[in-house]
Amino acid sequence: MAGRAPLIGGDYPQTDVWAYDGNVPGPMLRVRQGEPVRITVENRLDEDTTVHWHGVRLPNAMDGVPGLTQPPITLGESFTYEFTPPDAGTFWYHPHANSLLQLGRGLAGALIVEEPEPIAVDRDILWMLADWRLRSDGQIASGFGNGMEAAMSGRVGNTVTLNGAVPTDEPVRAGERIRLRLVNSALARIMRLRFEGHRPVIVAIDGQPCDPHEPEGGRLLLGPAMRIDVILDMQGVPGRRYQVVDDFYDGLAYWLVHLAYDKGAPVRTHPMDAAFRLPRNPLPEPDLSTAERHELRLQGGMMGGGAMAGMGGMGMPGMRHAAWAVNGTSMTGDGHAGMKPLRTLALGRSYVLTLRNETAWWHPMHFHGHSFRVVDRNGSPAPHRQWVDTVLLPPKETVDVAFVADNPGDWMLHCHVIDHQTAGLMTVLRIA
Ligand code: C2O
Ligand code: CU
Ligand code: CU
Repeated sequence: MAGRAPLIGGDYPQTDVWAYDGNVPGPMLRVRQGEPVRITVENRLDEDTTVHWHGVRLPNAMDGVPGLTQPPITLGESFTYEFTPPDAGTFWYHPHANSLLQLGRGLAGALIVEEPEPIAVDRDILWMLADWRLRSDGQIASGFGNGMEAAMSGRVGNTVTLNGAVPTDEPVRAGERIRLRLVNSALARIMRLRFEGHRPVIVAIDGQPCDPHEPEGGRLLLGPAMRIDVILDMQGVPGRRYQVVDDFYDGLAYWLVHLAYDKGAPVRTHPMDAAFRLPRNPLPEPDLSTAERHELRLQGGMMGGGAMAGMGGMGMPGMRHAAWAVNGTSMTGDGHAGMKPLRTLALGRSYVLTLRNETAWWHPMHFHGHSFRVVDRNGSPAPHRQWVDTVLLPPKETVDVAFVADNPGDWMLHCHVIDHQTAGLMTVLRIA
């Protein structure tokens, strides 16, 4: 529904948004691993919508892709989503209809699936990050779907919010251990977070536990739709403030928030002495020796000089505004009836997908209904047993991901820079 949100805070005007239950972000849904969930969505927008449960391995009919997995929910109608999340972890939900506007105007929320026995921490905190392009009067700027932008970085905004507001301080206590869940719900902004004076340890990526490790260069790289869970031991000085900086874009670093220590004595003198490896989720292990291999080439986008790359002769008739393609074919939009699968995969078989980014741009490539294991990047084995639903590809890089095709249905695979998705960087894999 439509609503207003104090994104900037202070004396600034509130922003007109679209919201779940009137809140930006939408309500944090906390459910339990292996227990049935039932969520009814009532559409009070002026247009069709659906809800997609990003990263959750659920039945195809609950995946929320209009036309492909369900009819869109029209104004005044409702739809009940029912599924049993097999995996514990940090997930999120967002519309899959007119996504540029609906997500860009605020429709997104976190879905936390709790482990039956959570790891020992003092606090479990969510940072739902979003990116907005606001005018000076605090309203959302128009111009969604600009073709030039769609062929470049996508709609990167000018205001980053944390849990729905431009943040200043995150209050913390010396000595405490925090499980921090980061969600990047931006349309296009990639973030790379550095925690001044702290050493975050990554324990899960896209909800799926990995081998605990410190990130490369101490920075957490979060493309759109990606999540990272970290363990943070607050070893700073009582009363001090430490910056969290996002320095992804050259020359455009800014501080996102400060970790603000209260003046109290540390709650403990040494970091908490407890294991923080998360229990593995019940993911089927792909058999790499028998896996069938397929290549997906990501093509298109602006090169220097303004030409489109790798787009010779591709595109489906009647589809304009395509700036991107997968293996020479552009599927545009958010999902619709009659999308022809690129490939049919055999139920129960193991697959390795080679994602080859032939473009000059970054792409967080997301697959619905599955998590895949990152096996290899540019020819080197990927460390830390990373299972993801969204894999970030730098320009010209290649990543191999492996999975068992164990979930039948037609599943979207697309870039989560929404401008890229809707301008052609999307395909469908059928599992039957
Ligand atoms: Cu979160 Cu099809 O995406
Ligand atoms: Cu998804
Ligand atoms: Cu992309």
